[in-house]
Amino acid sequence: MQLGANTVLITGGASGIGLALAERFVQAGSTVVVVGRRADKLAEARQHLPALHTRVCDVSLEAERRGLLAWVQQEFPQLNVLVNNAGVQRRVQLADDEDWEVRRQELVINLEAPIHLSTLFIPHLQQQAAPVIINVTSGLSFAPAAFVPIYSATKAALHSFTLSLRHQLAATPIQVLEIVPPAVNTDLGGPGLHTFGVPVDDFADSVMARLAAGEQEVGYGTSELARLASRAENDARFQQINNR
Ligand SMILES: NC(=O)c1ccc[n+]([C@@H]2O[C@H](COP(=O)([O-])OP(=O)(O)OC[C@H]3O[C@@H](n4cnc5c(N)ncnc54)[C@H](OP(=O)(O)O)[C@@H]3O)[C@@H](O)[C@H]2O)c1
Repeated sequence: MQLGANTVLITGGASGIGLALAERFVQAGSTVVVVGRRADKLAEARQHLPALHTRVCDVSLEAERRGLLAWVQQEFPQLNVLVNNAGVQRRVQLADDEDWEVRRQELVINLEAPIHLSTLFIPHLQQQAAPVIINVTSGLSFAPAAFVPIYSATKAALHSFTLSLRHQLAATPIQVLEIVPPAVNTDLGGPGLHTFGVPVDDFADSVMARLAAGEQEVGYGTSELARLASRAENDARFQQINNR
């Protein structure tokens, strides 16, 4: 895809991977809108990158997803790139007694929201020049980490959905791309839990260069290996990730 001359919407773009992608789209000459739940985080991102446009939006709520499309059509009618990046990661012991609503939220944010946003935005995107939907999945889409079981399941499902979306939209101008991060050093799951990951800037530089080169599915380091691995290799990866 071209990196410049776009108008890009990035969910969860006020921090981590989303913010790193936002910076690079802006540097390439695109207009970028980022959304998230925390107004203070959005303001911080705008201070860091004054060219950013921001809006508070909780993508777990159907009404806010619909409201987001209506707002975009009003304020940024030329928007041509949707990046489904917002996500949460919870450590869950499945045998523990926990309120289902708490667990369901992870499904809604990581899976329902990107599926609904993708379908909601299709009619709008079809009218734009060079339209793109980018879904952010995970190396854990291919071999789960059992300590984040619901997260891993949502990312496997989002990878699957992305393949179907690309197939169904093949006859339209909309390109469907997938970013498959490995562990990246961000605040995912809470500050201090992902410091073992690769530096977010190195990851984002590599991803953007490969998207610019026309690749449809882009990993990095261990997630590049995972997305290309055989079933036997991912079974071995599962054992390794889960220390068996
Ligand atoms: N870091 C990694 O190791 C890694 C690996 C594989 C995949 N990923 C994926 O990369 C994406 C970005 O994660 P990250 O690592 O950059 O972590 P992050 O810094 O925590 O970013 C996640 C973003 O999502 C937003 N968000 C969460 N729930 C939301 C909601 N209901 N509505 C709107 N925004 C919401 C958060 O903002 P608010 O809290 O303000 O809403 C936050 O800005 C996620 O999809 C994650 O699963 C990350």
